[in-house]
Amino acid sequence: MFYKNFTIKHFEQVESTNSLALSLARTYQIDHNHIILTDSQTGGKGRMGRSWASPVGNLYFSLALKPQKSIATNSQLSFVAAVAMGLAIAEFSKDAKEINYKWPNDILLEGRKVAGILLESDADFVILGIGINIKSHPEQTSYPACNLDGQGFEITDKINLLEKFLDNFSNLYQKWLDFGFTPIRNLWLERAFNLNQEIAVNLPNQSLRGIFRNLDEQGNLLLEINNQIQLIASGEVFEDRL
Ligand code: BTN
Repeated sequence: MFYKNFTIKHFEQVESTNSLALSLARTYQIDHNHIILTDSQTGGKGRMGRSWASPVGNLYFSLALKPQKSIATNSQLSFVAAVAMGLAIAEFSKDAKEINYKWPNDILLEGRKVAGILLESDADFVILGIGINIKSHPEQTSYPACNLDGQGFEITDKINLLEKFLDNFSNLYQKWLDFGFTPIRNLWLERAFNLNQEIAVNLPNQSLRGIFRNLDEQGNLLLEINNQIQLIASGEVFEDRL
């Protein structure tokens, strides 16, 4: 199936759309703007080695890209995707629910996670894997979750949501090619969760508290601790409840 410049391969069930897209891209069986879409996953992958609950009813897909840019800018693409998905979700909102981005690229509805993005890359391609809770969400998660149905969104066909995402993504991707990360970062920061507020960031071996000040050019989080800025490349953000 095709949508504008995108080629979509739709499966009933796969282990993980990211794993499948990675192996197909490595063997030249998929190319730039190809999408692996599935109705459910048996081994959906989340960030930081976690699993992503993937029952029928939600949207799971991976988009393969071959950006003609330095590999150092690859991580910026997960912000392009987060903003594109935030805009797509907003198009289905009946009453302007508050949509926020939580670093690095979670999408929150009124403070609860509704979508996540897993970026995996290889020498010459990037796989952007996106999961959106439409009909259901898991209960036992490290961060509270929600789903679009439960929040009053009306999505009768999940392919419509995918298409809206692809429309927004195409625009933003072009912006990113033409003008770099700055316009994307600005859009992301407009809806950033807890910007200029105290947050806690869990790193593999420690937890830091500070004020979330900004993103840098790589999409790293800039955390102010005792008037000094600390750069955080990978971690999990929580609201500081102390
Ligand atoms: C996160 O931890 O927030 C990222 C979740 C990413 C889940 C999606 S679902 C489609 C794609 N395939 C996977 O195995 N993971 C991503």
